[in-house]
Amino acid sequence: MAIRNFCIIAHIDHGKSTLADRLLEITGTVASRDMKAQLLDTMELEREKGITIKLQPARMQWKGVELNLIDTPGHVDFSYEVSRSLEAVEGAILVVDASQGIQAQTLANVYMAIEAGLTIIPVMNKIDLPAAEPERVAHEIGALLGVDPSSVGRISAKTGEGVAELLDEVVEKVPEPNMVPGDTKALIFDSVFDGYRGVILYVRVMQGSIRSGAEIQLLQSGSGSLALEVGHLAPVRVADAELTSGQIGYITTNIKSVQFARVGDTVSLAATPDIEPLPGYKKVQPLIFASFYPTSQEEYSKLKDSLDKLSLNDASLSYTPETSAALGFGVRIGFLGLLHLEIIKERLEREFDLDLIVTSPSVSHEVTLTNGKVEMIEQASVLPDVSQIESIAEPWVRGEIVVPSTYIGAVLGLIVEARGKQTKLEYLDPTRAVVGFEAPLAEIITDFYDALKSQTSGFASLSYEWDRYEVGDLVRVDILLAGERVDSLGSIVARSKAEDFGRRLCERLKELIPRQNFEVAVQAAIGAKVIARETISAVRKDVTAKLYGGDVSRKKKLLQKQKKGKARMKQIGKVSIPSDVFMELIKRDS
Ligand code: GTP
Repeated sequence: MAIRNFCIIAHIDHGKSTLADRLLEITGTVASRDMKAQLLDTMELEREKGITIKLQPARMQWKGVELNLIDTPGHVDFSYEVSRSLEAVEGAILVVDASQGIQAQTLANVYMAIEAGLTIIPVMNKIDLPAAEPERVAHEIGALLGVDPSSVGRISAKTGEGVAELLDEVVEKVPEPNMVPGDTKALIFDSVFDGYRGVILYVRVMQGSIRSGAEIQLLQSGSGSLALEVGHLAPVRVADAELTSGQIGYITTNIKSVQFARVGDTVSLAATPDIEPLPGYKKVQPLIFASFYPTSQEEYSKLKDSLDKLSLNDASLSYTPETSAALGFGVRIGFLGLLHLEIIKERLEREFDLDLIVTSPSVSHEVTLTNGKVEMIEQASVLPDVSQIESIAEPWVRGEIVVPSTYIGAVLGLIVEARGKQTKLEYLDPTRAVVGFEAPLAEIITDFYDALKSQTSGFASLSYEWDRYEVGDLVRVDILLAGERVDSLGSIVARSKAEDFGRRLCERLKELIPRQNFEVAVQAAIGAKVIARETISAVRKDVTAKLYGGDVSRKKKLLQKQKKGKARMKQIGKVSIPSDVFMELIKRDS
């Protein structure tokens, strides 16, 4: 049977998951009555947030052709997942919201698809919306891809209009995968751990074939296993006798940890131990770091176990144990971005029932010492003494902002404020522009995105990627609570912004830390020099004082509530602070 392998790429919310649902429905893969919205978004969090985090494969039949679809996430944090999918397919449907036009992530995805040599089929989605502007958007897409605007398909993933024609176009335009005989090589593009079965590999067979029951090996990790079952996803697992060259499917193994089955590795048959592995994936680079501490130290080993479990399914997750004078034992975790951080935090709390303190996220710094040594510093508290430091370099990103032309001035202002530079200014059409920029990552992860959205009435979209380390004039700002330095609150910031940063942090801490029964000084300092100070005045609080008379049950309830509140407090030196203080700190001042 002829095969077509493809994925869907789109800016967030342009309708990828809805289109995937329609494809499954129109091809009869899933009966309409079984259709739940966004079927391929399987994680509870994905449904709740309405976003796709993990890619999911699905096989469909269309007019005698086998179609293998891989869904991809649209958020900038997960572009790594997108690049993984692209390696396993020959074509990409590019979905652009007809009421929005091209956005920053559309561009980033298109560049990746072109780099991977894919055939791109552009379509405009949501043409049922009164706000759709298909003519204008068709021209934007035409100009971007160098195609005739009239050839850009028009669909409504919601109503199904134009979707059958799109499937025909996929069959017609996406090239057939190369059917290569010879020694088996399959690329692992994802792997999941199933408690009952073991590790399940999602693979694209590049050459040869794998039969159910075959002895297989993973070329890079060296692990061996049995292919207990092979098959495809429709989107539930359906067993087949074999997977052949060009196909996408799954292999159930008896490997007991995904640590031995990393994505990007090559599956081959045990009988051919000496073959060359596929190039695989480059290792992902965490962009930001945050420390996670359990509120009760007994939960430390549970935290590590839970992270081990999560990292089985998330190749981008890496962590190292650390200790903090104030918070005890914890772990330092690297993330692809803030959304990634938030998702991992929520999963740890929900799925593993952990109560966590998460420190403000920071970037890693490349510190050159006066003795010539270079050290990577992932948290401010371990920065060596200034006398030993030659220079500190921080990560820079480069990216693009798509924005209506009237807001260009505001965007350029924000870039400068973020210590960045504008590198490009191009027009998609007379009303919309692409601004290229470079800026320190630390500035982008704080409140750049929020400021960008608010200054452009929500019209700007942003994409960026890691670029380089660049030396800057950076200093460490320490926070002292009641005279004691709190290691987990220190930050490395630009000297030009240190004072303002210290002042705002002290003000926020004053708001977030409840009054204690003694006066607490909140200070920011660079070395021995105090640059900002706030005072939290003392109070003795009896929450039941307000309750006149004898409603005992109400009083009990209130005390219970207060006790629960206390359980989420953390003692730092003499001061007790709410455990979510660190996350609150990074939220934009309101
Ligand atoms: P991520 O999974 O977060 O990357 O987003 P996505 O691109 O998958 O978008 P999703 O399918 O979740 O759609 C975003 C929103 O647009 C949802 O509220 C959909 O119901 C809506 N939507 C999608 N397609 C259409 C369409 O053709 N017409 C209309 N009117 N709404 C649509």
